[in-house]
Amino acid sequence: MKDYLSLYKQKTPKSHKLYERAKAVIPGGICHNLRYHPPYPCYISHALGSKFWDIDGNEYLDFWQGHYTHILGHANPYIKNRMAELVSNGMMNGIINPLEVELAELVCELIPSAQKVRFCCSGTEASMYAVRLARSYTKRNKIIKIQGGWHGANSDLLYAVQKPYEKPDSLGLPNNGVDQVIAVTFNNTDMAIDAIRKHADDLACIILEPVSGVGGFIAAEKEFLSAIRKETYKAGALLIYDEIISGFRVALGGAQELLGVVPDITVLGKILGGGQPIGAAAGAADIMDICNPNIHINKWERAMVGGGTFSCMPASMAAGIAMLGYLRQHAETIYPQLAKVGENLRLRIEKAFGQYDIYAKCTGVGSLFMTHFPINKKIKIDSPYAANYLTDVDKREVELKTRLLAEGVYVMHGGGAVSTEHTGADLDSFIEQITQIAAEMKG
Ligand SMILES: Cc1ncc(COP(=O)(O)O)c(C=O)c1O
Repeated sequence: MKDYLSLYKQKTPKSHKLYERAKAVIPGGICHNLRYHPPYPCYISHALGSKFWDIDGNEYLDFWQGHYTHILGHANPYIKNRMAELVSNGMMNGIINPLEVELAELVCELIPSAQKVRFCCSGTEASMYAVRLARSYTKRNKIIKIQGGWHGANSDLLYAVQKPYEKPDSLGLPNNGVDQVIAVTFNNTDMAIDAIRKHADDLACIILEPVSGVGGFIAAEKEFLSAIRKETYKAGALLIYDEIISGFRVALGGAQELLGVVPDITVLGKILGGGQPIGAAAGAADIMDICNPNIHINKWERAMVGGGTFSCMPASMAAGIAMLGYLRQHAETIYPQLAKVGENLRLRIEKAFGQYDIYAKCTGVGSLFMTHFPINKKIKIDSPYAANYLTDVDKREVELKTRLLAEGVYVMHGGGAVSTEHTGADLDSFIEQITQIAAEMKG
């Protein structure tokens, strides 16, 4: 059997050295916890299309694609050129620019729930603003979220992300925070309805990803979403979709277009910025206007949304316009094609492991895929926390990731996102590597 850890270490001495330096000056050596993987992460030197290269000169086929941002692949020349055309007068000026209007118009055209939008610099900020808008609009406090749901590191939502769900996911949160957040199971309609009814008097919103990133890009069942939609109307609470991964990814109009149930507020990021930093909260005009500074009311009657030095950076706006413009123009080919490729890939991964009697389940919607190793076939991977039922999932998932790294493939949680730049040859070689790894894992 191949010693994949030694192979990875042999190939990456410069990354190893740099990581040792990083640990002295950066907690854990990384600024985003997901970017660590054992034995140490590799440092990227440059990237193009479906691939990136590390500082030791190794090539990787990349399915992480900038946290699932690069639906058109790394360093897409169209986006680069359009950005260069659009951002000719400085990268940042802190004054409003025409590009933000154009991007806002595109968001409102493409996302069914968006009538008005405010841009910020990250998805974390955007989910914080969405919750604040909901609390301001309803004048209530409580939030329902999904067990396992990740909406960035904002203090309002750092609850029930990882088990045990009744404990907060960080130090430093307000003492009463945990009482404000109620967590329900994804796709469990009865549980969600009960929670909405039980907390209706003080319920500001329910926030969920209609295609859940955590646990395997699993689509919400239509019945689950429709029931929540109906019940939130009844309770006078708002429905927030976090479409930071699914927006412009599973369909041009996001999961709300695909699944046909529209929220009050949508949180966007990633693809929206075309590879530049961005976040956005978008929604019905009357809800969004609660942050409108031109309505003459007291400051405590208005929601504070925005205020970032770098919000609406011309570079982010320009890259976003290029990205959304391109996707809109080519939607009829891009989305069906990515869906076909994704479905095929998920089946081929399961088959490759099955050939060696390893039960693997590959979940996902459209171009997204995630590989799980359930302990038996009875386990249904249908919710973001299903992974907790899989005893040695972490071990196997980490093993798969590290083996793939040693072979020059970068995945996250045994999966990732296919971009338009992944070729048939890329995918064939990936499946060959998976097949070889399956044989070794069996041994
Ligand atoms: C579903 C979801 N919401 C929110 C966020 C936070 O976005 P950002 O990392 O841009 O702050 C992420 C990031 O991965 C995400 O996947």
